[in-house]
Amino acid sequence: MNINVINATIQTTSADAILVGLFKGGEISPAVISATDKALNGSISELLRANDFRGELNEAAVIYSHGAIPASRVIIVGLGKVEELSLERIRQTSATGAKKARELGCKVIASSVFGAEAVEISSAAQATIEGVLLGSYRWRKNHTSPVERGDIESLLLVESDKGKISAVESGASVGQAVASGVYRARDLVNQSPNIMNPGGLAQAARDMAIEAGVQCTVHELDWIQAQKMTAFLSVTQGSAYPPKFIVLEYKGSDAEPLVFVGKGLTFDSGGISLKNADGMEDMRSDMGGAAAVIGAFEAIAKMKLPIHIVGLIAACENMPSGTAYRPADVVTARNGRTIEIISTDAEGRMTLADALDYAAEFKPKAVIDLATLTGACVTALGQNVAAGYFANNDSLAQKVDEASRASGEKLWRLPLYTEYRDKIKTDYADLKNSGGIGSGVGSSAVFLEEFTSYPWAHWDIAGMVLDKTGPTAYYPLTHPPHIIRGATGFGVRALVSFARNWA
Ligand code: BES
Ligand code: MN
Ligand code: ZN
Repeated sequence: MNINVINATIQTTSADAILVGLFKGGEISPAVISATDKALNGSISELLRANDFRGELNEAAVIYSHGAIPASRVIIVGLGKVEELSLERIRQTSATGAKKARELGCKVIASSVFGAEAVEISSAAQATIEGVLLGSYRWRKNHTSPVERGDIESLLLVESDKGKISAVESGASVGQAVASGVYRARDLVNQSPNIMNPGGLAQAARDMAIEAGVQCTVHELDWIQAQKMTAFLSVTQGSAYPPKFIVLEYKGSDAEPLVFVGKGLTFDSGGISLKNADGMEDMRSDMGGAAAVIGAFEAIAKMKLPIHIVGLIAACENMPSGTAYRPADVVTARNGRTIEIISTDAEGRMTLADALDYAAEFKPKAVIDLATLTGACVTALGQNVAAGYFANNDSLAQKVDEASRASGEKLWRLPLYTEYRDKIKTDYADLKNSGGIGSGVGSSAVFLEEFTSYPWAHWDIAGMVLDKTGPTAYYPLTHPPHIIRGATGFGVRALVSFARNWA
């Protein structure tokens, strides 16, 4: 979608539809609405008087202009109560408006900055663009049939006050960069694991790197062996696909880097500790952490943030076979620690152990890993409610909280209590890879902690990478009447917020 910011009034802009937001409570107060209403000879007032529209959150109505203004349609979207307006509501309502416009077959739309009366203008512009773009996402790469209605081709973001144009422009360009990263992460997760296999993921990282102007190195099996990443290698040994160790680097400054590590299981069957068949296809999303890292790199590079970041992905597949690792195996991680395998389905922490240990080579200021690590985290915080995070450093935790708040991606801190360490003790090795039922999401986090030596945060995003409760306004991918399983791109927005505050 083409996006342009223009200095004009919405009611005089030519488009297939103009989008305007309206608060609950009835009166036509904000300037944009009253001017549009006047130009339409009171059609919006009439709609309200008839009680056909109340301004409820995400309510949408269409008015035809009959030539009273250059645009043929006006799409009115309810913003809810003015005192409850938030950036999250701006994202949702602008997404609702864009989806309505696409349904009607509109190709060129014009929108005011949603919620600009109540929120700082450049953040409101960013949120409006994020909503329009994220709500317009669809997954069509593996379909051969055409869509019934094509995509919106062009969006004009209209601001009448010349003094606000540069703030709107900068917010819109941030929104576009963020959305391009989220689109990329969604595409990677939605792509099937026979295509998005470890080699496919490595190629996708290279493609992003070339497009966004960042460095990408893909290490092959021999390098991984030379690094003695035996914990990572044990997971991949049952798969026919060779593993890849992906390194991304964006150098917007000479400072020591921030390192983002993404869990990159292109498919998690559970291995010998095989998962149930029901819903196993969702394990296409077990590289959602890697996808978020790749998407965040794209956005950060496009925004040219003055920071130094490194991205690490140990990409492989977890399969049962005659060469697969097995429960009772003992393997030696890169840092020399021995691990007894209890469950081959606790594979993510094995791959992350070696990637986290390798991260120390970059002398990082901080490391954040993103992983679809545990069902226990989903049980604790709920599907599509919040990701859990752990941190060994309070000031880093505070920055994670700020990034969560600013981006609208919910992350809730969980404790690294020493009691969890007892759960992964074993007589057979230094530690075991699973504490078993009842050991809590914390036992997976203290396992990872064993491989860290720097300020570190671990985000368990297992319940967030697929939209299973939607459709919501800007997570629009659904497959009724089956389970809903579209990728959200979760993590990109929070990582970008984190990076912007870090800069
Ligand atoms: N990839 C899964 C975690 C997961 C579960 C992600 C549900 C998304 C949705 C992970 O590798 C896994 O299998 N975890 C096990 C760990 C257990 C064996 C200790 C789990 O949570 O059951
Ligand atoms: Mn698993
Ligand atoms: Zn997994």
